[in-house]
Amino acid sequence: MTTFKKLKKITTHTLVEMKHEGVKISMLTAYDYTFAKIIDNAGIDVILVGDSASNVMAGHISTLPITLDQMIYHAQSVVRAVNRALVVCDMPFGSYQGDSKNALNSSIRIMKEAEAHAVKLEGGVEVVDSVRRIISAGIPVMGHLGLTPQSIYKFGTYSVRAKEEKEAEQLISDAKLLEETGCFAIVLEKIPAKLAKKVAESLTIPVIGIGAGKYVDGQVLVLHDMLGMTKEFNPRFLRRYMNLHDDISSAVGRYVDDVKSLDFPNEEEQY
Ligand code: KIV
Repeated sequence: MTTFKKLKKITTHTLVEMKHEGVKISMLTAYDYTFAKIIDNAGIDVILVGDSASNVMAGHISTLPITLDQMIYHAQSVVRAVNRALVVCDMPFGSYQGDSKNALNSSIRIMKEAEAHAVKLEGGVEVVDSVRRIISAGIPVMGHLGLTPQSIYKFGTYSVRAKEEKEAEQLISDAKLLEETGCFAIVLEKIPAKLAKKVAESLTIPVIGIGAGKYVDGQVLVLHDMLGMTKEFNPRFLRRYMNLHDDISSAVGRYVDDVKSLDFPNEEEQY
């Protein structure tokens, strides 16, 4: 088996190879230079400059408001930090739907101005013209099916998708279509594990899950969620590896106390 952790650079081809060798793919979001550097050095395979930046970085209630310029700014910061991981940048709402020429122009801006390695967009058959046109320009595309947050006002809730047979069949057909069109990987968000397994087994490209169970080719989480910085977000699929919200809050509290009590700075901390 290839030792993927030692490989200099992860490419879209590496990910396909990893699937075929049964090596699971690790993916996390990042939106800035400092976090991207830490997680790249820690061995993450794929960094997603997610449009979740709209929630996590900007405080919006959905991913819809973030702009293409803002996504490019975040992606530029991440790309500057990364040596090994594949950097995928989300195409924001309004930059690709319903107009494949606009989709191509948006993806070219991401690749040219941010120097990202690939783009991700949400949807199946309804966006396939955009996917085809972007790929025809030599830009790798990652698909995203299941719970697609840019369509939240169509769904109405963030609950588990494709529990009914009709929606599950549509998802399977969309996944196959995205593969045939040339996507190098697909994210499946918040769908039953059994369905995600079926999709992963029927595709040759990697399927990366978030709330899609263990029988897929890799996992993705939002960095700020898995570090425990976002306290109010508690989906069942989220495993928290730290409690940074409380750690940061306590550190800031101690700093405030030290400043007020004249404990900081001390003799050694001044010139
Ligand atoms: O924007 C994002 O963070 C995402 C992940 C949830 C996959 O698309």
